[in-house]
Amino acid sequence: MPSLPTAPIAIVAAPLSQVDADLLVVPWFEGESLGAFAGLNQAAGNELARALASKEFGARPFDLFVTPLADGSWKPKRVALVGAGTIEAFTSGLARRLATAAALAARQRRVERIAFVLRPGLADASGDFDIAGFAQAVTEGLTLAEFNGGTYKTVDPPPSKLVSCTIVLLDLPDTSPESTVRVESAVSRGRLLGECSNLAREMANEPGNTLTPREFATRAADIASGGGAGVEVLDEKQIEALGMGLLLGVARGSSEPPRLIVFRHDPPVAPKSPVLGLVGKGITFDTGGISIKPAEGMERMKDDMAGGAAVACAMRAIAKLGAPIRVVGIVPASENMPGGRSVKPGDILRSAEGKTVEVINTDAEGRLVLGDGLWYARKLGATHLVDVATLTGAIVVALGKVASGIFGTPESWVNQVRKVADRAGDRMWPLPIFDEYREQLKSEIADFTNTGGRPGGSITAALFLKEFSGGLPWAHLDIAGTAWAEEAKPYLPKGPSGVAVRTLAELPFTFDSWK
Ligand code: BES
Ligand code: MN
Ligand code: ZN
Repeated sequence: MPSLPTAPIAIVAAPLSQVDADLLVVPWFEGESLGAFAGLNQAAGNELARALASKEFGARPFDLFVTPLADGSWKPKRVALVGAGTIEAFTSGLARRLATAAALAARQRRVERIAFVLRPGLADASGDFDIAGFAQAVTEGLTLAEFNGGTYKTVDPPPSKLVSCTIVLLDLPDTSPESTVRVESAVSRGRLLGECSNLAREMANEPGNTLTPREFATRAADIASGGGAGVEVLDEKQIEALGMGLLLGVARGSSEPPRLIVFRHDPPVAPKSPVLGLVGKGITFDTGGISIKPAEGMERMKDDMAGGAAVACAMRAIAKLGAPIRVVGIVPASENMPGGRSVKPGDILRSAEGKTVEVINTDAEGRLVLGDGLWYARKLGATHLVDVATLTGAIVVALGKVASGIFGTPESWVNQVRKVADRAGDRMWPLPIFDEYREQLKSEIADFTNTGGRPGGSITAALFLKEFSGGLPWAHLDIAGTAWAEEAKPYLPKGPSGVAVRTLAELPFTFDSWK
């Protein structure tokens, strides 16, 4: 089980001067006047008024202004205004990112104890007064800032860690005990979801030489079972006994054997139906196989199991939070390597379901392993399917690195998943899977090919997966553009993002509105 340093999070409802922290973070809207923060400004020696008047601090999203609080009667030693943009455009998604940005900035400044001020105007800016949802988002954001990507550094000093985080509830309209309890449970939920996101990032960051399919299975099993989920790891013999020719075909070129990781959340009082099936791509390294990838950038392909990591870490959260329905998680794990026994272009593979596939390009391996994975999720009783995969370069062409692609059927199920994703801060955008695209997968010799050429590459990949969805409600998330940040953002350092963990974890809690 990977260890994550997680600073305790406290919620306090105290005057700002009494908050026990090194840095007080105050989100600030554009065009706002000092108002209730006159005392804070005074403690800062009028620096806030000056910075606002001179426009040194403009309050655009992620703008940061840090100044000391010299007044000895104030417990916090410094204040940071963090720009929150216009009040009209404010969302809990931005709140999450502001919290991450502020906490990352605090770590850079070697601040160990930060306090984030949850103030009126923030939680109600979007019009729904959802203070608990807002507190959860902020907690997730603070937690995401604790991720460290430099696991193997031995020379540079490690980045400073947060020792404590405090969420300050300032002048909230509802101070009833019920509201407080709701905020408290939202904070612990956000904490867990942030931690599970970081666990997935840690696994996606792990190189191919340490994270082999066997090691991935061991770690994923520890993570999920540590949260209370049931886990079973099937070896190559069991995979063969199930007839999973697609997974075995991909694994053939590697001297590392494949694994099939099976997670179960089985609450004793759950209804028989629905059963959510989560399927994640678990390619621990994708060289492309015989259709080998160019050398440049190939190192990135260590994160080709990010979808599988999202499933494993979501299963931990689902079990820990006690989701009200049954959930099965399936992660086919393999390397994709060239070798004397590798699958070759033109080879035919037989899926566990019985459908045959002509392999045109061995680099289109994700859809192969997922095909058998989706079938197994159905076999275990799933009634609703979601798969998540770093599946296609084409999705980066279509949507850039800003949104994941979402595909599936029926539309109501896709919209359901998308709505949950939106709230969880995993932005997704729908693409069509019109029947006409299916022609691109025609094979002369087998049921279909594994590639459909360049046009609509992400769509034909989705249509390949649809062949294995058995007509169930199914959504496919292509996270090839969002699983890894190539450039640092104020709210996301370079490296693994943990995309889809929170979406998958929250989804089973919305089953009341599934149709
Ligand atoms: N793992 C890759 C997709 C990928 C590309 C992920 C870039 C992250 C960043 C996938 O297995 C792959 O190689 N897809 C091919 C499919 C093609 C051969 C039809 C691709 O996108 O080029
Ligand atoms: Mn590939
Ligand atoms: Zn791949």
